[in-house]
Amino acid sequence: MKAKTKYVCSDCGYTSVGWLGRCSQCGAWDTMEQKVEVEPAKAAASHQKRRPAMAPQQEGPQPVEAIDNLAINRMDMGLAELNRVLGGGLVPGSLVLLAGDPGIGKSTLLLQAASKAAAAGRQVWYITGEESVQQVKLRASRMGCNPASLWLWAQTDLEAILAQLENRQPDLVIVDSIQTMYAPDLESSPGSLVQIRECTARLGALAKTVHLPVMLVGHVTKEGSIAGPRVLEHMVDTVLYFEGERHYPYRILRTVKNRFGSTFEIGVFEMGDEGLTEVLNPSLAFLADRPTSAPGSAVAACMEGSRPLLAEVQALVSNSSLAQPRRIVTGADYNRVNMILAVLEKRTGLKLGNQDAYVNITGGIRLQEPAMDLAIAVAVASSFKNKPLKEKMAVMGEVGLAGEVRPVAYPEKRAQEAEKLGMTRLLAPKGTKNKVRNSGIEILEAGTLIELLALALN
Ligand code: TYD
Ligand code: MG
Repeated sequence: MKAKTKYVCSDCGYTSVGWLGRCSQCGAWDTMEQKVEVEPAKAAASHQKRRPAMAPQQEGPQPVEAIDNLAINRMDMGLAELNRVLGGGLVPGSLVLLAGDPGIGKSTLLLQAASKAAAAGRQVWYITGEESVQQVKLRASRMGCNPASLWLWAQTDLEAILAQLENRQPDLVIVDSIQTMYAPDLESSPGSLVQIRECTARLGALAKTVHLPVMLVGHVTKEGSIAGPRVLEHMVDTVLYFEGERHYPYRILRTVKNRFGSTFEIGVFEMGDEGLTEVLNPSLAFLADRPTSAPGSAVAACMEGSRPLLAEVQALVSNSSLAQPRRIVTGADYNRVNMILAVLEKRTGLKLGNQDAYVNITGGIRLQEPAMDLAIAVAVASSFKNKPLKEKMAVMGEVGLAGEVRPVAYPEKRAQEAEKLGMTRLLAPKGTKNKVRNSGIEILEAGTLIELLALALN
């Protein structure tokens, strides 16, 4: 609420913003009276609009047994990897944010999904604030998709978009990107935090009231957060991150938040000349160009959500000429790698303190599971000793500060995946044999890092 003070002449009704001893209109003395007008501020009005983005309000609480189960009829997005991260398809009325670095492939992914949904007979609106409709059409044709029920619209005025959406109802709306949209009734400039938040809130409210799924593209800023300090994450139902290294073809779609499914799922794609293709067997892709019998290369048996994944960890350790040796880590957690190097030095006596160490997960992917510790440890030791690891061996396990090897979750799934990919040995923590039954893979159990190195190196 905003209060506005004015002064009105009781004789002639003349209004002034400041107090006057004598009315400038009728000339009467001491007739100006103070009036306070209260007007609802714009911010308050827009706050009212923002509220419906929450779940529908009810009169009072009711017992849980009396509440009907939510019947969710998920929309098939035509891409199995995208369906997986959404928790089995797109939920009607949900607001999904796809975030990622500029140029990583967000528009490509959503345009492909839009085309697939349109080809399945749904009316899809792809609203673009970044490219012209001709550019989007060109891209769609290059990827071989131009179905009739895909509608393109270059528009950034949110009021115009909402007005159209209230009249005509498509089955799916894609907004690329939320940073380019603006609500004309707000004073802040497009791309500002206020605009981004308000536009998201209004689209969310619409999604909920008319039961329309809306997917937003959000660019990640240099600091690594979506549109500032993660302001949008709590306003949407699902947050997906699209990540990868620009110079590598692989892209990982990761669920960060999901009100309608699991949060830890990933989907894997490969960027090519004709857009993104799904990588249905990522382990095979990640291990494809692996050097066999080269020192410093280990295969880690990881899990991403419900999905086992094999990836190659490479390490190079060499004498350093620097007072403070170099530690360079790509794809893994930097602090974790430093911790593993410290534990290796302290508990196994490897003199790593004067060595440069480079650790890399190949394929340009980022994996940060503690179960990768052992693979990092054996890759480093293998490079330091210049001895390759045993052939066809996958590694899993966490490293403790006392030099112990700790168990990991889902050992059976990891073992199965390793076996499927042609591995014949699995280097694992103590107790794994009891948990992994009916597996043809040979399990080598290590309780400490010393035992681990004895088992790992050829
Ligand atoms: P884009 O989807 O425009 O990224 P974002 O919307 O996240 O900013 O993707 C841009 C990059 O993808 C660009 O560098 C070119 C590359 N690309 C391909 O390699 N092949 C393709 O078929 C397409 C459409 C894009
Ligand atoms: Mg884009």
